[in-house]
Amino acid sequence: MGILRIGHVSMRVMDTEAARKHYENVLGMKTTMEDKHGNLYLKCWDEWDKFSVILTPADQAGLNHVAYKVEQDADLDAFQKRIEAYGIHTDMLPEGNLPATGRMLRFHIPSGHEMRLYAQKECVGTEVGSVNPDPWPDNVKGAGVKWLDHLALVCELNPQSNVNHIADNVKFFTDCLDFHLSEQGLVGPNASIQAVAFMFRATKPHDIAFLPGPKAGVHHISFFLDSWHDVLKAADVMAKNKVKIDLAPTRHGITRGETVYFFDPSGNRNETFAGLGYLAQPDRPINTWTEDSLWRGILFHSGEPYAAFTDVYT
Ligand SMILES: [Fe+2]
Repeated sequence: MGILRIGHVSMRVMDTEAARKHYENVLGMKTTMEDKHGNLYLKCWDEWDKFSVILTPADQAGLNHVAYKVEQDADLDAFQKRIEAYGIHTDMLPEGNLPATGRMLRFHIPSGHEMRLYAQKECVGTEVGSVNPDPWPDNVKGAGVKWLDHLALVCELNPQSNVNHIADNVKFFTDCLDFHLSEQGLVGPNASIQAVAFMFRATKPHDIAFLPGPKAGVHHISFFLDSWHDVLKAADVMAKNKVKIDLAPTRHGITRGETVYFFDPSGNRNETFAGLGYLAQPDRPINTWTEDSLWRGILFHSGEPYAAFTDVYT
């Protein structure tokens, strides 16, 4: 019972057709639906629900909302009570407010980002089906990402004015949404400031990450691949398509993920990553990265600061 996984992200893009080409040809997603407002709905080949990414025409890049799927419809009522009791306003959007999707519980997490929970979305099946399925389909384009895996939000951190929306989010996700902390970065006097946090619901090292910044935004949305070789091939696909790569294939210390970062045509940062890292469990000791090793946690090989990675986001 409760939250299963990330269900979709709704992203703002400035050129829908350029975005469609990117998410279809580079990432390898498929457009499953379009609506009269010009929104595109896409899914990855190993996802069974109708969409995991919504691309919304806008004059600025960024995140509209992130939605997580819960197991039972009644979970939505239970979460509504808990979130309201925590002091956060919610509203319940009726079924069909978002096409092919059941009712959605909408609220803003302490960092200001809009989050939604839902229980139902039209199931269209994976590309290989579920009867005697092949291990992979023949018609995959580009990097052939398997599923939307997680997202990383930039949250305001300003110790001078006592603002730490990373710690505030960790408390809210723990107390209200039953997430668990897998990894954290502690900085400042006596390591008193929680500056980075990774949280999970099931068995993956993270389903959401919180990173620090001067104002709220989205750092990246991330898609899963099977292997380090697939990450290398994804970077090849980006080079072939003249996609701007942010960070060439490397490894994270945090989560142990193998990764490449790049940008969609509107400047939203994408990640394709591999490696299930480790078995995340509620009783697993939390990994802590100290201030002198925090960049090692992010870029394990160099361990060196890379300012554009933290300064650039949408
Ligand atoms: Fe990531």
